[in-house]
Amino acid sequence: MSGTAPDPQARFEGYYAAPRAPWDIGRPQRAFVEAGESIGGRVIDIGCGTGDLAIWLAERGRTVTVVDFLEKPLELARRKAADRGLSVNFLQMDAVSVGEIPERFDAATDCGLFHTFDTAGRAAYVDALTRLLEPASALFLLCFADAEPGEHGPRRVSERELREAFAAGWSVEKIEPTRFEVVPGILGAEFSPGGARAWFAVIRRA
Ligand SMILES: C[S@@+](CC[C@H](N)C(=O)[O-])C[C@H]1O[C@@H](n2cnc3c(N)ncnc32)[C@H](O)[C@@H]1O
Repeated sequence: MSGTAPDPQARFEGYYAAPRAPWDIGRPQRAFVEAGESIGGRVIDIGCGTGDLAIWLAERGRTVTVVDFLEKPLELARRKAADRGLSVNFLQMDAVSVGEIPERFDAATDCGLFHTFDTAGRAAYVDALTRLLEPASALFLLCFADAEPGEHGPRRVSERELREAFAAGWSVEKIEPTRFEVVPGILGAEFSPGGARAWFAVIRRA
């Protein structure tokens, strides 16, 4: 055993090789449904997984682009969109490269991606988001919070870390405590009853 942590793509491929990934609840997270009306226009969902949030937004008339670095969840998302006759733009790429996408967006959604990055990756990701989004467009972000006990699963994020990550070029509109719903009964992915403690943040490009 080398003791080396698997690279992020291999780690997520492992999750998607299982019958069900812990976050893949088959519907958008409640926090996004509640914010739904304010997520308008041209939306990019980054780290889209199997696409339930993107599909939900497209069904409500948004123009949706999705990004994931893995083919498998993108293929599942493509099938869901096709089954519903929805048009969604699928991009297989690393989130730290989204700054190179030439299209413009009114909003970005991040459901469970921010909390997957290590410190350097987080900085690179926020830098890419800063280049991707124009002034006044909003990022809607759901991540595990430091109030969630234990160390298994995603990295816990404090409110202060969130504010620090978006200190330059962004304005934090709200950060509120909520829950990150998970698939019940997956060994090693047991979190607080009612869902892992999480933050839902709305952060706007200054
Ligand atoms: C925790 S899952 C959340 C998936 C989806 N947003 C949801 O809520 O069901 C994170 C997703 O981001 C993708 N991902 C992780 N790191 C990424 C990166 N650096 N670039 C692009 N996608 C990434 C993974 O493949 C996975 O689909």
